[in-house]
Amino acid sequence: MGKNKLKRFADMETMSCVFQPDRSMIDNDSFPLKGKWHQNYFKNENPIVIELGCGKGEYTVGLGKRYPNKNYIGLDIKGARIWEGANTVREEDLKNIGWVRTRIEFVDSFFAPKEVDEIWLTFSDPQPNKPRKRLSSKLFLDRYRKFLKPEGIIHLKTDNDLLFASTLQEVEEVGGTIETQTWDLYGEMVDNLDLETQDILSIKTHYEGVFSEKGYKIKYCKFKL
Ligand SMILES: C[S@@+](CC[C@H](N)C(=O)[O-])C[C@H]1O[C@@H](n2cnc3c(N)ncnc32)[C@H](O)[C@@H]1O
Repeated sequence: MGKNKLKRFADMETMSCVFQPDRSMIDNDSFPLKGKWHQNYFKNENPIVIELGCGKGEYTVGLGKRYPNKNYIGLDIKGARIWEGANTVREEDLKNIGWVRTRIEFVDSFFAPKEVDEIWLTFSDPQPNKPRKRLSSKLFLDRYRKFLKPEGIIHLKTDNDLLFASTLQEVEEVGGTIETQTWDLYGEMVDNLDLETQDILSIKTHYEGVFSEKGYKIKYCKFKL
């Protein structure tokens, strides 16, 4: 492992905005903030929005800065990536943002029923050969249902046709409702959206930048379960 990564891992241990639950906590269902994010971490009752597979956390940080009256949590397994967002939170003292380093497979270990208002899936891995591992597969949607409010919203932004098509199909199969969808966000739709939504969707993650430069059309959908 590179020296820089080791340095970042050590640094993250010192950050109060980063949680790195171990396996026993997951097995014993003893993550201390489950059901207590409002009371014990954010110290307010504002809505909680989570980004799954957040990478460097551009959406979590971007949304957190725009909306100080909401709380944001980014989750990813890659510590060196999370460090980027977490370091910004530390430097700018952003009190409405936190991070959990974990596999998303365990996401329901960290949130209690109805604790989360919104979920963002940003440029999730398309997993062409392992459809059950897609973060929008039925397996994962059933996990999200355990802690998302009944009227809670899931947003998905991707460059990938396969992931987008399979998401629309899975949502229909689990009885969810697609509220908005476009196969070409910036080409056909963005001008028709209200200004707040345009502003939110204008935040670009690292991977969005990479794929946009290659000329891929960005797809977006918003749905309820
Ligand atoms: C293609 S990157 C996108 C990162 C970021 N959202 C962006 O748009 O730049 C996918 C991210 O999801 C994370 N990821 C994929 N599957 C995961 C899983 N099962 N559990 C935790 N993280 C996962 C990867 O570590 C990676 O950071």
